[in-house]
Amino acid sequence: MRKILAAGNWKMNNTPSQAEAMINELKAKVKDAKNDVLIFTPFVCLPAAVKAAEGSNIKIGAQNMHFEDKGAFTGEISAQMLKEIGVEYVLIGHSERREYFAETDDTVNAKVIQALKNGLTPMVCCGETLKQREDTITFDFIRSQIKIAFRSLSKEDALKVVVAYEPIWAIGTGKVATSEQADEVCRDIRECLAGIYDEETAANIRILYGGSVNKDCAAELFAMNDIDGGLVGGASLKVEDFSIICNA
Ligand code: 13P
Repeated sequence: MRKILAAGNWKMNNTPSQAEAMINELKAKVKDAKNDVLIFTPFVCLPAAVKAAEGSNIKIGAQNMHFEDKGAFTGEISAQMLKEIGVEYVLIGHSERREYFAETDDTVNAKVIQALKNGLTPMVCCGETLKQREDTITFDFIRSQIKIAFRSLSKEDALKVVVAYEPIWAIGTGKVATSEQADEVCRDIRECLAGIYDEETAANIRILYGGSVNKDCAAELFAMNDIDGGLVGGASLKVEDFSIICNA
């Protein structure tokens, strides 16, 4: 049975002291949460966030990571660095990284492999643009993102990956996909994974929806068959709203 995961992506928001204060406030509100709780913070907030979340049910993740072990990659952060400070998850291939920082399906695949090799849980993002949806190539496009992200991963490793379906037109726009729209793409991702691996493996991989998830629509989205939680941007910056989503 897949447990619902409520994941907050703070993006480029909050300083270390703000992160500490927010997690302390959130901790109390979600200590008996129905859903698993995870926050992706900026790199510099990670040590404070990990410390504040210690002993609680809140997991901490990074928003990116490099695919090499180490070396001359100025400004980059390695999997080993994240692991050593107690980070458990890493977001990979968010559409903002793909759009503004030239991430490709191939770098996404390399990062997924590197995260798994270092014992981090990768959350792989995929999602179509409005133009692709209008051109009715959503399923083809996302299947190709998924196939490359999972390239050369064993079944055992695939089971450790979390997928986040985030239609780009729904991110930060206040325009949430309908539950049916979100569920049908999540179902297709699961079918794609069943094609690569098998039904049982696909049935055990968590697939989240992201894109303007808020406290009012979360419960309906999370109740859908193939949606196993949410990747939440804006609403994760408000402790009260996010705690409602953690219980949705
Ligand atoms: P919003 O919830 O602000 O639309 O952001 C979604 C997102 O990109 C989460 O990764």
